[in-house]
Amino acid sequence: MSPLAKRLDRIQPSLSLAVTQRAAELKAAGADVIALALGEPDFDTPDHIKRAAIAAIERGETNYTPIHGTLELREAIAEKFKRDNDLVYKLDEIAVGCGGKQIIYNAFMASINPGDEVIVPAPYWLSYPDITLLAEGNPVIVPCPAETGFRLGPEALERAITPKTRWLVLNSPGNPTGAAYTRAELRALADVLLKHPQVQILSDDIYEHLVYDDFEFTTVAQVEPALFDRTLTLNGVSKAYCMTGWRLGFAGGPAELIQGMSKVQSQSTTHTSSISQAASVEALNGPHDFIAKHNRVFKERRDLVVEAINRAPGLECATPEGAFYVYPSCAGTLGKRTPDGKLIENDEDFVTYLLESHGVAAVQGTAYGLAPHFRISYATSTELLEEACSRILRACEGLS
Ligand SMILES: Cc1ncc(COP(=O)(O)O)c(C=O)c1O
Repeated sequence: MSPLAKRLDRIQPSLSLAVTQRAAELKAAGADVIALALGEPDFDTPDHIKRAAIAAIERGETNYTPIHGTLELREAIAEKFKRDNDLVYKLDEIAVGCGGKQIIYNAFMASINPGDEVIVPAPYWLSYPDITLLAEGNPVIVPCPAETGFRLGPEALERAITPKTRWLVLNSPGNPTGAAYTRAELRALADVLLKHPQVQILSDDIYEHLVYDDFEFTTVAQVEPALFDRTLTLNGVSKAYCMTGWRLGFAGGPAELIQGMSKVQSQSTTHTSSISQAASVEALNGPHDFIAKHNRVFKERRDLVVEAINRAPGLECATPEGAFYVYPSCAGTLGKRTPDGKLIENDEDFVTYLLESHGVAAVQGTAYGLAPHFRISYATSTELLEEACSRILRACEGLS
C-alpha cells in the first residue's frame, strides 16, 4: 500500500523546478548548459536589508512573533499599500506568511469548499490550479492566447462565472508572460465583477515594481473601491527586493478572511522567520533606488531577448510590460525535424531539443496551461543571455 495520500494525485510538482534540476544534472555531468528556467532575480539582496537582519539577530529578535508578524512589519505593510496603491488596510486586515505562495495556500484553504470554482486565466503560474486542487476546489481555466495579449477580457470573464465561482485570480504583471493589465482593462473586468458578489478576487501583485517603459501599475481594489471588501491584494519581498530565500509574502484583505488564514497558518508554520520580518521592515521602509537600477538592466535584457527570439525562424515573441519572463510561441517549429531526425510535435519536444542539443533550459508552455509556447526567464547575466539567444537562433535554423 502506498504511504501517500490520494490528495497528492490531484497535483503536480513544479515543472520549472524540474527543468532547473535537469539542467543542473546535465551541468554536473560536464554539459555546457544555460538555465533560463527559474523565477528569481540574479541580483543579491541589497546590503541595507542584510544589515537590518544582522542587527535584528544581534538585538536578540530571535523569538516567536505574532502569526501575522510583528507590529512594526504590519505597520510597514499598511504604509506600503497606502503609499504605492492608495489602499488603506487596518492592521487586522493584513496577513504575513512564508512567501506569497503560503498566503495563497492559506487563503484557499480557509475559503474554498469542495466543488467551489476558482477562475484561473491561462497561461498561469502553476500554483494557482494546484493549490485550488489541494483545497478541493475546481480550477476553471480560461485560455487567454497571445492575440488577447495574454489577458482576460470582460466577455471571457462573464462566460466563466457561475454560482459556484468563489475566486478569480488576477496576476499582473504575470508569470509566465510578463503581461500586465492597464487601468482600463482592470476597469472592464471590475464592471463584470460588480455584478457577481459571490466572487472574491486574488490580485497577485508580486511583480508590481518590475514594470518597464513607463507602464503605470494599478491593482483592482484601487481601480474599483467597491471591490475592496472582496479582494485579497497579494504582494511580497521576493522579486523586487531580491529576497526569494527569505520567505516573506503579505496581503491585505477582509478581516474575516485574514482571521481564517491566520487559523490555517497557526497549524502549519506559525509565522515566517523573525529575522526575515526585520529585514522586510527595512526593505519596505528603506531606500528603493536600487529597484530602478535593476529595472534598467531587466528592460535591456527583455529587449535583447525579444529582438533575438523574433529573428529565430518559427518563433514569435510579444514584448511584455513587466516581470522577467517572455513567453514566445514556438508554433512555427512544429512539424519540423531536428538535425538527427526527431520530429518536433509539441512545445515539450521543442524545449527538450533546446536543452539536449544546444544546452539552453527553458520551460514548456504546457506547464503553464497554454501551448505551444515556452517560458524564458531573463533574470540572468546579460552575457549568458546573449549566448543563450545565439544558441536558440542556431537551434531554430537547424530545424528542417
Ligand atoms: C505569480 C507569482 N506569485 C507568487 C509567487 C510567490 O513567490 P514567493 O512565495 O517567493 O513570495 C511567485 C513566485 O514565483 C509568482 O511567480
